[in-house]
Amino acid sequence: MVVKALTTQHSALKIQIWGAKFVGVKLGILGLGTVGTGTVQLLQDAVGRNPLLQEVEIYRVGVRSLDKPRDVKLPQSVVTTDLAAIVNDPAVDIVVELMGGLEPARSLILQAIKNGKHIVTANKAAIARFGAEIFNAANEAGVYVMLEAAVGGGIPVIQPLKQALSVNRIHTVTGIVNGTTNYILTRMQTEGSDFGDVLADAQRLGYAEADPTADIDGLDAADKIAILASLGFGGRIHLEDVYCEGIRQVSKTDITYAEKLGFVIKLLAIAKSQGNNHPGLSVRVHPTFVPKSHPLASINGVYNAILVEGEPIGQVMFFGPGAGAGATASAVTSDILSLVAALESNTAVPNPLLTCRHEDYCQITPVSQLLTRFYARFLTKDHPGVIGKLGTCFGNYGVSLESVVQTGFQGALAEIVVVTHDVKEGDFRQALDEIRHLEAIDSIASILRVL
Ligand SMILES: NC(=O)c1ccc[n+]([C@@H]2O[C@H](COP(=O)([O-])OP(=O)(O)OC[C@H]3O[C@@H](n4cnc5c(N)ncnc54)[C@H](OP(=O)(O)O)[C@@H]3O)[C@@H](O)[C@H]2O)c1
Repeated sequence: MVVKALTTQHSALKIQIWGAKFVGVKLGILGLGTVGTGTVQLLQDAVGRNPLLQEVEIYRVGVRSLDKPRDVKLPQSVVTTDLAAIVNDPAVDIVVELMGGLEPARSLILQAIKNGKHIVTANKAAIARFGAEIFNAANEAGVYVMLEAAVGGGIPVIQPLKQALSVNRIHTVTGIVNGTTNYILTRMQTEGSDFGDVLADAQRLGYAEADPTADIDGLDAADKIAILASLGFGGRIHLEDVYCEGIRQVSKTDITYAEKLGFVIKLLAIAKSQGNNHPGLSVRVHPTFVPKSHPLASINGVYNAILVEGEPIGQVMFFGPGAGAGATASAVTSDILSLVAALESNTAVPNPLLTCRHEDYCQITPVSQLLTRFYARFLTKDHPGVIGKLGTCFGNYGVSLESVVQTGFQGALAEIVVVTHDVKEGDFRQALDEIRHLEAIDSIASILRVL
């Protein structure tokens, strides 16, 4: 009789007897909120889905409060408030972390890994901050950490980047990865409303949190692009290297100008290789003028989309629901499925297409070195030759202008809008510093990057 390790190399926690029936996989789920409930519902209704799901047992579920009404039925003995007991339970094969937040999620994940358990998590905030620690621990313990639901909700993009797309040289990953901000910008665009009004309404309707900071200021998108950049470009990313600007300063005036000039404004999360002659990667989140003809321009409302460009594949776009119980449960369960398949295949060698083995950090290009087009809106006094003076200042720093428009007035002030050709951001900022001191300039009302 041959006895073989069922789990991966180092974590010989279980043994299986050759020829014996696969005994199934026990889940310890941490969290029974929106995503946890959706995941339990999906797993409890396995008929018609991948038959491997029938190998899965919802063994323990950890929550904060036992008294809360739940939308799923689970035996009392399954649900507990003792989450440490779940990650320390020798019977649990996979810990599914769906509680969110940084702590105790991080510590529980690390403890589960130490105990040889595979991890499925939807927690982009924890992965973006503690990914290095978590993946180092997982590689050491010989377990997998799966995170399909951490970016793009139900959209499968993590595994495609790790597997199918990984044979390409990735040039750019560009995403609309935050549904709340996309919903707000879409409504500002279609209704001509102000940011503050739409945000208040989005909060009333449940599309924005009471504290919307993580969404509105781009922090959630920054977590997600750090993860996508790491997978697309094969290196770790320090979250603090991700340049991040949110949408608070986007005004309905800018949205109107964007429309007139043939653009829409989107909060884009971008990871872009600077090319062979410019080593390094720019990783950034900011509101962006997107040409109406661009594939991301038509992604509206709470939907997410991620455009991957690489060689030789060209452009591939992933589109779908970026949040919600069912959609996110689909992504979580796809990870559970991959792990069940890995466990059932009974191999002693970790599958390199499921592991994350980056050790080096990507070289990040500072935003001052970024080559991009800009849109800028100036409020000017009624002085002769203002446009000429603007042009001279820009010319002094090698900034060439694609278009200059003077249409509107804000009270007594004239409004001048310029769109530049590609320019180094540092040069553009220097020109703006000079322009700010021109007698004719009242203020620089907005500056946005153009895709
Ligand atoms: N919601 C989405 O559409 C979505 C989409 C993509 C990714 N995600 C990610 O998925 C994760 C879960 O999000 P969610 O929206 O499902 O969160 P949620 O609705 O707030 O649920 C969190 C769950 O975790 C439990 N929990 C939290 N802290 C706990 C603690 N210290 N001890 C014990 N239990 C604790 C809560 O218990 P109680 O129920 O007893 O309070 C609750 O069941 C997050 O990382 C989030 O970023 C969410």
